[in-house]
Amino acid sequence: MSKLPNVKTSIFSIMSKMAAEYNAINLSQGFPNFPVDKKLTTIVEKLASENVHQYVPMAGYPPLLDKIAHLTKNSYNRSVSSDIEILVTAGATQGIFTAIQALVNSNEEVIILDPSYDCYEAPILLCNAKPVRIPLNDDYTVNWQTVKEACSNKTRMIIINNPHNPTGKTLNQADFASLIKIMDAFPDIILLSDEVYEYITFEEKHLSAHLQPTLANRAIVVSSFGKSLHITGWKIGYLIAPEHLMIEIKKVHQYLVFSVNSICQVAISQYLDVVSIENIRESYQQKRDLFRSLLKSSRFELLPCEGTYFQVASYTKISNENDVDFCKRLITEHGVAAIPISSFYENGTDLKLIRFCFAKDDETLRTAAIKLCQV
Ligand SMILES: Cc1ncc(COP(=O)(O)O)c(C=O)c1O
Repeated sequence: MSKLPNVKTSIFSIMSKMAAEYNAINLSQGFPNFPVDKKLTTIVEKLASENVHQYVPMAGYPPLLDKIAHLTKNSYNRSVSSDIEILVTAGATQGIFTAIQALVNSNEEVIILDPSYDCYEAPILLCNAKPVRIPLNDDYTVNWQTVKEACSNKTRMIIINNPHNPTGKTLNQADFASLIKIMDAFPDIILLSDEVYEYITFEEKHLSAHLQPTLANRAIVVSSFGKSLHITGWKIGYLIAPEHLMIEIKKVHQYLVFSVNSICQVAISQYLDVVSIENIRESYQQKRDLFRSLLKSSRFELLPCEGTYFQVASYTKISNENDVDFCKRLITEHGVAAIPISSFYENGTDLKLIRFCFAKDDETLRTAAIKLCQV
């Protein structure tokens, strides 16, 4: 009997495969198509012939742990212990999986907000725990009253994703006030805050869970160098969590991965000396603004995009097909691949919305926009 009977090929694989078959511009999967910074590739070339190819300590390459502590201090003014509270993981995905496996017990409940990124549910089910999906409001704000009503003494964890994939929505101070109120009322609940797009926010500065001192002892914050340094294929991320949670997380990490790829950790550690991670916001803001302005004359209606490199668009003025069929036709007839938002919902809610990734060079965005304006 399958342990995960409902898990199928992900929509990202389906759309990317179709995009390749039809030679369509792939704005579906969330990765950049522009070249990696030459400074980083130079570091990697140099390291290839150095003594950096054996296991590093389980929690991470020590100089990288120090740099992460420094980055966390610079970005959020939070001091964390590099020896105790940081774990380098094989991408945010492994960090999330490991944290859930380590901390959620059988028959407990974990709250996920719907729509959501697809990697939360499987590890919860593999713990024999129950994912409880709470729909976001129509404008993609969180209905904290519903979250509160869903909490009970069975609830072990609340997962938030800020900035949010797929909607591009960010949380504000009032959201955190409501969340903290709920967590005060349920002192056993822990927070998993997926912040892989923490450095990609636009008009408003990112409000991290790191900025909430009352959450420090109860939150696991998830980051991804893949997203922050445009190297998604490297699959390197990290978790920051208080010692009592991190001890348990490291027990699972030790047997799942032991230690993450050495040369990549050394390379990132050296690269962090010469790159300013906080500058990526500016280039993505230009891309967002370019893509939105290019689509102004199209029949797509664009939703606000406060963070991430995803733009959600409504196609109700174009068609009333379901969003999966519409995305397939967008590839076969118009040569552009996108992701149907229904795939981020537990029950496939279809609001005629699709997601474009604008982490692409300007020429790709311009060519895609010409095609999209003809739809
Ligand atoms: C919200 C969210 N969380 C986690 C991940 C996974 O990140 P990583 O590639 O570092 O595993 C992604 C990747 O798209 C994401 O969008």
